[in-house]
Amino acid sequence: MDAFVIRGGTPLHGSIRINGAKNAALPLMAAALLTDQPITLRDVPNLVDIRNMSALLAELGCSCQRDESARQSLNLDPSDSRQSAPLLLRTTVESASHARYDIVRTMRASVCVLGPLLARRGVARVAMPGGCAIGDRPIDLHLKGLAALGAAVELDSGDIVLTAPANKAGGRRLRGARIFLGGRFGSTALGTANVMSAATLAEGETLIEGAACEPEIVDLAALLTQMGAQIQGAGTPRIVIQGVDSLAGADHTIVPDRIEAGTFMIAAALTQGEVTLSNCPLDSMMAVTETLRQAGVEVTPTNRDDPTRATCAVRLASDLRPTQITTQPHPGFPTDLQAQLMALMCLARGNSVLTERIFPQRFLHVAELTRLGARLVREGSTVIVSGVDQLVGAPVMASDLRASASLVLAALAAKGETVLRRVYHLDRGYEKMEQALAALGADIRRTPENQGIAFSALAHVGDYMPQSKSPQPPSSVGAPVT
Ligand code: EPU
Repeated sequence: MDAFVIRGGTPLHGSIRINGAKNAALPLMAAALLTDQPITLRDVPNLVDIRNMSALLAELGCSCQRDESARQSLNLDPSDSRQSAPLLLRTTVESASHARYDIVRTMRASVCVLGPLLARRGVARVAMPGGCAIGDRPIDLHLKGLAALGAAVELDSGDIVLTAPANKAGGRRLRGARIFLGGRFGSTALGTANVMSAATLAEGETLIEGAACEPEIVDLAALLTQMGAQIQGAGTPRIVIQGVDSLAGADHTIVPDRIEAGTFMIAAALTQGEVTLSNCPLDSMMAVTETLRQAGVEVTPTNRDDPTRATCAVRLASDLRPTQITTQPHPGFPTDLQAQLMALMCLARGNSVLTERIFPQRFLHVAELTRLGARLVREGSTVIVSGVDQLVGAPVMASDLRASASLVLAALAAKGETVLRRVYHLDRGYEKMEQALAALGADIRRTPENQGIAFSALAHVGDYMPQSKSPQPPSSVGAPVT
């Protein structure tokens, strides 16, 4: 396992191109199961989750390969090692329909093969995903939606088995339906992706009410439409799909990653630097940029041509002011940036209130930020952040993807050295994050965990103590949070 060693205090300066969105890429890759024609996806980031999804699709008869030969002809910037070659997907064997637990447990998003498998093969057997670090993560709404399309749903040895109804032609085909897909916590992103994908090949019309409005759903609808699907209303809570008999191949560029963009915006502000983001999906980030503006962070588009792939300069324009946010489904403030915003608010002048409404348990970063000197009080699904003058480096432990990002951000602003262990969580969602930050001037390096980092980190912890009343680091370096 690797760790990051970060020496904070350097303002970030320079430019970075935002990658394609992981959370768009995963369901779009699964959509390749809906056809036997080739699908080309461009700007798919090179991440652990993407490689896991490729492995799963390969087991299901769909090959996924990077087209490295296209690099030169596409004029991809050779100095930008984060710009990926196109991903070529093609389903050639349709006999297997089982997503095994061994793969599903490594990546919850494996569940997005459920809808495409069921729609095209008439049957899907997918290991029930367990909970994860950010909460229980049920899939009842996915199953409710697919059952409404006529699927029989069974649980067998920890697998969910879905079977489409028999049709007159002797095969199996889903039937269009009117479905309310909203749940206790609002809409479901991957649930909407599953039901929308499945409905493209169903007989007749499907209406999904309470659909997720996330830009990643709009992107999936764009790919499916290019494949020949008939979809209206993606990006609104009501999506209407007219089923077609078959889908064709397509060539599609993934939307840029609004969460990666938000993370780098916060990095610029926290270090009091100035960073220019290109390929930035400002159009889908209004809740984020508005919150940052209230906090004193200026996000200035330098090119107004295309707000979905904008270029913008980000800098802290005044003292950092406290904010109040509640995470919500899109277009509200995204849960995937709550932890990073919390890192920023740790240094604001005053008290911030951050409430988590999507995953009420998503606070594993709180105890670790406290180790860096943050003053945080959690009350249920709300955290009160009392800004401090200075964060202080310490050994900390990554626990989930966005919590890890929050710790990297806090460490970039902290005095002294932070060692962040278990960065494999981070690698699931941020491509070469340490290289991207180093290119902006950050003092950050990756190292194997067992190379004596604990002692060097401890030496620095001893150098500085937080001014706040936060607890001192415990003596067991890197002990897991319990
Ligand atoms: N929910 C249910 N039942 C369901 C599905 C969801 O009750 O059947 C609840 C969830 O427990 C949660 C809420 O509905 O309270 C929203 O969950 P959603 O289904 O939208 O989450 P997801 O689709 O499984 C995606 C992203 C997450 C992101 C959430 C919310 C992917 C691969 N994952 O998950 O991304 O936090 O939407 O926006 O797209 C991340 O990137 O770090 C990450 C966790």
